[in-house]
Amino acid sequence: MAEYLAFHYLDPADLLPKGVPTPRQVSNFPATCARLLLVQAKARKVRPCRALDLGCAVGRSSFELARRVPEVLGIDISRSFIRTARKLQNRGKLGFKLLEEGCLTRNAVARVPAGIDKARVRFTTGDALRLPKGLGSFDLVLAANLIDRVPDPKRLLSKILPSLVRCGGLLLLTSPYTWSADFTPPANWLASHSTDSFSALRSHLRSSFRLIHRQNLPFLLREHRRKFQFTFADATFWKRL
Ligand SMILES: C[S@@+](CC[C@H](N)C(=O)[O-])C[C@H]1O[C@@H](n2cnc3c(N)ncnc32)[C@H](O)[C@@H]1O
Repeated sequence: MAEYLAFHYLDPADLLPKGVPTPRQVSNFPATCARLLLVQAKARKVRPCRALDLGCAVGRSSFELARRVPEVLGIDISRSFIRTARKLQNRGKLGFKLLEEGCLTRNAVARVPAGIDKARVRFTTGDALRLPKGLGSFDLVLAANLIDRVPDPKRLLSKILPSLVRCGGLLLLTSPYTWSADFTPPANWLASHSTDSFSALRSHLRSSFRLIHRQNLPFLLREHRRKFQFTFADATFWKRL
């Protein structure tokens, strides 16, 4: 939980040891995902009335989407992430213990940035592969670092996401394609001996979406004060046909 609160609500520059420069182009990842999706929406004249943050964890992207979108739904399978996102929604801030080394911790505070109307967001527990009926469709859908965490990414891509994005709406997928049998049976990984994940992703989305933009999105995930994972997500932006 603390890793996610730090990842979502603290600035990567403040997490690195003093004097260590932030790697180029690394910023707060969940906020950047939301911002880039809103930039694409503006550039393509998509007026976002409803947005969905699928696999929202502790909710930062959902709040950031609410800067421009009147109705945002954050869904995550983890009850404790949703409980924490709701606490942040109600209180605006939440104290937590950031791991330093061993069992040494320091106090930190996660804060929803000022100027966001938190009432525009609703958080709910749910399984992306078995969503409740009647959710309707969304102008913007964000699925950040989710596809390599579900058991059946192909179904998510070819059946579920097309049903969630309205025609003309936008989808942002990000993923480092870190396939692991802990989450996805190897037979369901997008990458195989002959195909990379992006090619498979494109072929699953092709009949419903057009690729409009692609870029690397680097992020830093802090384990403790001297240990970070430095990862490059593949961010692909799609327009629903
Ligand atoms: C790697 S995290 C990414 C979280 C957030 N989107 C971000 O970019 O920081 C994956 C998230 O997906 C959630 N998740 C995993 N399987 C899910 C499923 N079947 N349905 C909904 N959420 C799921 C996890 O609980 C976790 O919060």
